[in-house]
Amino acid sequence: MAGYKVAVIGGDGIGPEVVAEALKVVAAAGVGLETVDYALGAAHYLTSGEVLPDSVLEELRGVDAILLGAIGPPIGSTDVPSGLLERGLLLKLRFELDLYVNLRPFNGVPGSIAPGTDFAVVRENTEGPYVGEGGQLRRGTPHEVATQGSVNTRHGVERCIRFAFGLAAQRERQSVTLVHKTNVLTFSGDLWQRTFNEVAAEHPEVSTAYQHVDAASIYLATDAGRYDVIVTDNLFGDILTDLAGAVTGGIGLAASANLNPAKTGPSMFEPVHGAAHDIVGTGKANPLAAIRSAAMMLDHLGETDAAARMTKAVLELQDEIAAAGGEWSTQAIGDAVARRV
Ligand code: IPM
Ligand code: MN
Repeated sequence: MAGYKVAVIGGDGIGPEVVAEALKVVAAAGVGLETVDYALGAAHYLTSGEVLPDSVLEELRGVDAILLGAIGPPIGSTDVPSGLLERGLLLKLRFELDLYVNLRPFNGVPGSIAPGTDFAVVRENTEGPYVGEGGQLRRGTPHEVATQGSVNTRHGVERCIRFAFGLAAQRERQSVTLVHKTNVLTFSGDLWQRTFNEVAAEHPEVSTAYQHVDAASIYLATDAGRYDVIVTDNLFGDILTDLAGAVTGGIGLAASANLNPAKTGPSMFEPVHGAAHDIVGTGKANPLAAIRSAAMMLDHLGETDAAARMTKAVLELQDEIAAAGGEWSTQAIGDAVARRV
């Protein structure tokens, strides 16, 4: 038993349910974890008034990895101010831990809009419009002003693009597509395009393409098979990965790794989906995204063999479930993956 120290943030809604299945599969794969549970999220905020205390953040810096289920109040609830948990917890962890790549792999299942596809989105995860640049003036007056700038640094863009090329170099098709909006966002687009071209020159084995984000959304919906690795900025990546999830079999299959590839601290692994309070306790939550995220965690920790077995089991089972249909409970899916690893 290796005994990696993993902070588990089950969070809200179906978060704890899917995380439990992910941990079950990790154990079945033979990797020993020392887990530490952290009560964080909407429910915790409502009972304690805390979002992410500094002391907890400091503890999290010391673990080997973080596994997160989902955070957020029920849709429509007004108890938690919009953005409080996003900015104060999720984005804070991404920024503070320098999780500069958000890696989101997609494999289209039978019957989806993009069956048989196999691509990954490398989303820049610490910059762009997410940084909180800007502000409001004369709020609530007819002359109100709001600005929210997109911050792009050479350092941030380059390290993200380098990761994408490194990933593509290991994949069969060895291709990277930059997605941006260089025809309108001429300042940040120029920085992304030049950096992309320079890194591409160091990787003659990797073929490259460029698409504007609006065109890329058409291709994702109509011809996602053209993609191998997509690299893009934080906001485009957020939107495109929901679309990618939708066309490949649903957001219940979409896994993600918030990576600090430099390994100066822990990385964080979470399914792309939210807390889905409407299906809590019904057994309808699909744990495959959480399980695949946990596989990405093992891969990052160096448990590449166990990670590969888990990913293979997830991909096989999600194809089988999609092809055969029928009702699979959260637990039944977790058990079935656990049996195969
Ligand atoms: C995601 C989510 C987050 C994001 C939200 C919850 C802040 O949508 O991980 O894709 O926008 O990055
Ligand atoms: Mn999102």
